[in-house]
Amino acid sequence: MGIKITLAAAAISILVISGCSNNVKPEKEMDHSTMNHEMEEMDHSTMGEMMEGHMSHDEVVMLNDSTGENELKIPTMLEQDDGEDVVYTVRAQKGKTEIFNGTETETYGYNGSFLGPMLRFEKGDKVKIRTINELDEATTFHWHGLEVPADVDGGPHDALEPGEEKVIEFEVTQEASTLWFHPHPEGKTSEQVYNGLAGLIYIEDDNSKSLGLPSVYGENDIPLIFQDRKFDDKKQLNYSAAKNEDGTIGDTLLVNGTLNPKLTVNKEKVRLRLLNGSNARNFTFKLNTGDSFVQIATDGGFLNEPVTLKEVTLTPSERAEIIVDFSQIDTEKDLALTNEDGSILLPFEVLDQSRAISKIPGVMNDISLTEEEMDLPVTKKIELFGMMDMVTINGKKYDPERIDFTQQQGVMEVWEIYNKPDDMGGMIHPFHIHGTQFKIISRNGEAPPENERGWKDSISIHPDETVKIAIQFNHKGVYMFHCHILEHEDNGMMGQVKVE
Ligand code: C2O
Ligand code: CU
Ligand code: CU
Repeated sequence: MGIKITLAAAAISILVISGCSNNVKPEKEMDHSTMNHEMEEMDHSTMGEMMEGHMSHDEVVMLNDSTGENELKIPTMLEQDDGEDVVYTVRAQKGKTEIFNGTETETYGYNGSFLGPMLRFEKGDKVKIRTINELDEATTFHWHGLEVPADVDGGPHDALEPGEEKVIEFEVTQEASTLWFHPHPEGKTSEQVYNGLAGLIYIEDDNSKSLGLPSVYGENDIPLIFQDRKFDDKKQLNYSAAKNEDGTIGDTLLVNGTLNPKLTVNKEKVRLRLLNGSNARNFTFKLNTGDSFVQIATDGGFLNEPVTLKEVTLTPSERAEIIVDFSQIDTEKDLALTNEDGSILLPFEVLDQSRAISKIPGVMNDISLTEEEMDLPVTKKIELFGMMDMVTINGKKYDPERIDFTQQQGVMEVWEIYNKPDDMGGMIHPFHIHGTQFKIISRNGEAPPENERGWKDSISIHPDETVKIAIQFNHKGVYMFHCHILEHEDNGMMGQVKVE
């Protein structure tokens, strides 16, 4: 079901924007029945461009295939500081990283030179984190997807100047999920993330520990942070040179910071925790063999039941946990995770060792939309519009002094988000809300696809699409909502909701 939505929306944008991009076929009348056929005939570059949601722009950047020459790096699990409390130290720092053999690239990282460690929390943990800014510029520490009071959420109001540190405390109250953290300083988020600031958070709970899912970290429970980058001829991440106001995309894929990655697995069920950590590029993940896999979790927790899919699309900041059963796939063939356009993202090497320790239970969670929630009136309307640096929400750009909405703590509301197309068709905006997880009620009036019937904190909104969500905040304070194309966020496609 998710597949259809992607294709239909993408196909619609072909119609609308022809004539503005030199890569698009001449305008043609298409009806729904011919669309899919048209898609098959399209050449590689058009297809790739389309899937990136950048139809309206001349610049198309295809992703290079991973050669698979480097074993995938697995982020280290962050150890707690000594002592009785759950205390972690996370420092934002500069460094040099050997991404390309024999060359040092200047990068940013948390507790290291590039990217960050994985923070593993248990539901119920009272966590203290000492955040330290060792950069030469202001930054913040934002916990994407974490349900915490706004004063520890690390939005643009919480900047730490160079050399400053701050201890934050919160209790982990939400269910098992894969979240992440990244900086959020006003106007500088895209550059700092681009340079390497991003890390993962795993939340575990009694449910996740009892389901019997693959859960050996780095062995059959694999975090995968997908990011595209553009390196200059000195193999540096030159953000100002690479920058695109509409979302910076690059031709070079890094997975967990690994160039040309390969993942070695056993013949068993392997859980892949996919995170689209790119500034702007969309990914549609599939297996090169056409085999299916199952999705078990969305951004904020497990689906009620596993959903069998042949592909899953993630826009920036979205996550999906999927399980690939390597004991059921013909491993004689070359196996890889590929993008929609066929480019190779992650080749697999399958060892002969087979194991059968983990399983995929038929029931994993209990999340549903109640009749009551579905009948609630729409109390907040959000209109996303524009491109490049002319992006707005409800016609306005972010103003730190302006509160756009208020909502009562603990009260469920329905928000309606609409992506208003422009003369050139518009583009997908991944819409994200801080401090909570929400449920999708409908996409253009229809029930969401099965693999979106779980907790979400970011959703793709296609041009001319209207999405209704049921959302409640369990903590107070001022939270951001914004487009997660990071350049759009920095260009002001962001607003604030005050929870009282
Ligand atoms: Cu990933 Cu405002 O956040
Ligand atoms: Cu966030
Ligand atoms: Cu956007």
